[in-house]
Amino acid sequence: MNEQREVPSRPIRVAVVFGGRNSEHAVSLMGAGSVIGAIDRSKYEVIPVGIAPDGRWVLVSEGQSYAIEDGKLPVVGDSGTALALPSDSGSIIALDPGHIPRSLGEVDVVFPMLHGPFGEDGTIQGLLEMAGVRYVGSGVLASAVGMDKAYMKLVLKAAGLPVGPFVVVRDRDWRTDRGRVLKEVEELGWPVFVKPARAGSSQGISKAHDLESLEAAIDVAREHDPKVLVEAAIVGREVECAVLESLGDAPPKASVPGEVLVRGEREFFDFEAKYYPDQMALAAPADIPAETAEEVRAMAVRAFEALSCEGLSRVDFFYTPSGEIILNEINTMPGFTSLSVAPQLWAATGLPYAELVDHLIRLALERPAGLR
Ligand SMILES: Nc1ncnc2c1ncn2[C@@H]1O[C@H](COP(=O)(O)OP(=O)(O)O)[C@@H](O)[C@H]1O
Ligand SMILES: [Mg+2]
Repeated sequence: MNEQREVPSRPIRVAVVFGGRNSEHAVSLMGAGSVIGAIDRSKYEVIPVGIAPDGRWVLVSEGQSYAIEDGKLPVVGDSGTALALPSDSGSIIALDPGHIPRSLGEVDVVFPMLHGPFGEDGTIQGLLEMAGVRYVGSGVLASAVGMDKAYMKLVLKAAGLPVGPFVVVRDRDWRTDRGRVLKEVEELGWPVFVKPARAGSSQGISKAHDLESLEAAIDVAREHDPKVLVEAAIVGREVECAVLESLGDAPPKASVPGEVLVRGEREFFDFEAKYYPDQMALAAPADIPAETAEEVRAMAVRAFEALSCEGLSRVDFFYTPSGEIILNEINTMPGFTSLSVAPQLWAATGLPYAELVDHLIRLALERPAGLR
């Protein structure tokens, strides 16, 4: 096992890692732009680390864009300099073609501002554990479980949390035993929501109203992930609650719950609603009865602890017309621009974005890598 490096007295060096090899590449850049802009430069030095869509770690090009511009999603621009994190030094190494490798310095903490597979799913967390480098957010297990909606729901259910009915469609079953899969799904009743097990930002998700549209929906989801989830559609308001770990030994805290309100004619909270301007509104706090809000907050903390999350998470619920609360999902690295839901919920709870970013870095500095 690596020796744990001590936190130095010079400005703390934070590597913000963003981009990545998945369909939430652009969303990650939007979050990273906000984080990099909010980090207090009198305390921290920032090293931006881009992961190109093909998985290469690169020094980002000058003028890297972090926002949607003219309707175009941002993408990691390659400066031609590759970056590497060797397992034994804790330093980021820059590799320029034709030159000897140079160090960008020892990294004190990594902020993996990444969503989706190869980022939010325990893979980069595993790499950082192997390198003995501290990092922001959940560890390997919570990240992996949180990313996979099938296992996430199993763990939440086992913890006694209310989860809706669902069927997991595994790759082999879909290819070899489709009849049985369709029969199982029909028992959920119509309509259903079809989603890739390991994606996010509503990518690959559609609503199916009958057997015919179901098959097409499963094929769409399978473009993102060979493993698919089909869920009974739940009618309800979408209420979300952010959870934040405390410094020291105090238990995690829940924000005020908020409600996401989708504008226009959309069937659900899809990608455009989430990221294009003026497509959604957040009511924070949500206009729900006080005892419901308390129940949501308590459930959010229970979900956070059921998965052994660290740092922050956002827990999403449906609040049905009959007053039932159903847990939809937990996100271990939720959307994280300053205008995203989790930061807005913390702002409404009295914790502004820059302080939230600082708190996350301090949590990471307090927590050594390794078994805990
Ligand atoms: N079972 C369901 N019933 C009703 N709406 C759903 C259901 N599952 C998903 N949705 C809708 O689709 C959106 C995205 O689904 P979600 O499971 O949260 O995936 P993602 O990880 O991509 O955010 C939800 O916010 C909601 O609007
Ligand atoms: Mg969601």
